[in-house]
Amino acid sequence: MLLRGAISRPLTSSAAVRLPTTAPAAALPQNVAVSSSQPSSVTFSISEKDLESRGFVLRRTAEDLDLDQLNSVFLAVGFPRRDPAKIRIALENTDAMLWIEHAKTKKAVAFARATGDGVFNAIIWDVVVDPSYQGIGLGKAVMERLIQELQEKGISNIALYSEPRVLGFYRPLGFVADPDGIRGMVYSRKNKKKK
Ligand SMILES: CC(C)(COP(=O)(O)OP(=O)(O)OC[C@H]1O[C@@H](n2cnc3c(N)ncnc32)[C@H](O)[C@@H]1OP(=O)(O)O)[C@@H](O)C(=O)NCCC(=O)NCCS
Repeated sequence: MLLRGAISRPLTSSAAVRLPTTAPAAALPQNVAVSSSQPSSVTFSISEKDLESRGFVLRRTAEDLDLDQLNSVFLAVGFPRRDPAKIRIALENTDAMLWIEHAKTKKAVAFARATGDGVFNAIIWDVVVDPSYQGIGLGKAVMERLIQELQEKGISNIALYSEPRVLGFYRPLGFVADPDGIRGMVYSRKNKKKK
C-alpha cells in the first residue's frame, strides 16, 4: 500500500477494507496508495492559463464528456472495455473528477476521478492520459488538482492502486507504498458461482 504525505495516525482496518469493488479487475493495479496528509497550499506544476495556451481546457464535470471517446482512451492504455452506460453510473457516483479537453478536437486526453465517503476517505481511479499526449505534464496536472480538491473537502486518506510501472509517477505526487506495513487487499475469489 502507498500513502501520501505524513502519516498522522495509523489507518484503521475499516479504512483498509473499504475498497470499492466496481473497477474491473484488469484495471486494478497491484499496489495501493493512500494519503493521510492535511490540506496544504498547492502550487500546480502547470497553471490553467498555461494549459489553455497549449490548447487544453481543464474540466471538472462530466458535462460534454463523450463517454465512448473516453472509453477509447481507456482501451488505448490497456484498460478493459467497459459498458459506457456503466461508466455513466460510475461517474454519477464519483465525488470528484478532472479531465482535460483538447480544445481543437474536443476530445478528452487526460482523466482522473475519485470516489469515497466525502469526508474521511477517497480512492482515485481511472488515471489515464491518451498515449499521444503522454509525457507533457497532463497526468500530473489532473492528479495535482484532484488531490487538492479532495484535501479541500477535508479528506485525509487518499488511496489509489498503482501498477508497478507507474509507481514512479505517483511517488513525487506524495504517495508511498505500504505505509507502516499496511497492505491493500482486493477480493479475488476465483470460483465464486455466478447467479
Ligand atoms: C501514468 C500516466 C497517467 C502519466 O501521465 P503523463 O501525462 O504521461 O505524465 P506527466 O507527463 O504528467 O508526468 C509527470 C511526471 O511523472 C513522470 N512519469 C510519468 N510517467 C511515469 C512512469 N510511468 N514512471 C515514472 N515516472 C513517470 C514524468 O517523467 C514527469 O516527471 P517530471 O515531473 O519530473 O517531469 C500516463 O502515462 C498513462 O495514462 N499511462 C497509462 C495508464 C496508466 O498506467 N494509468 C495509471 C494506472 S495505475
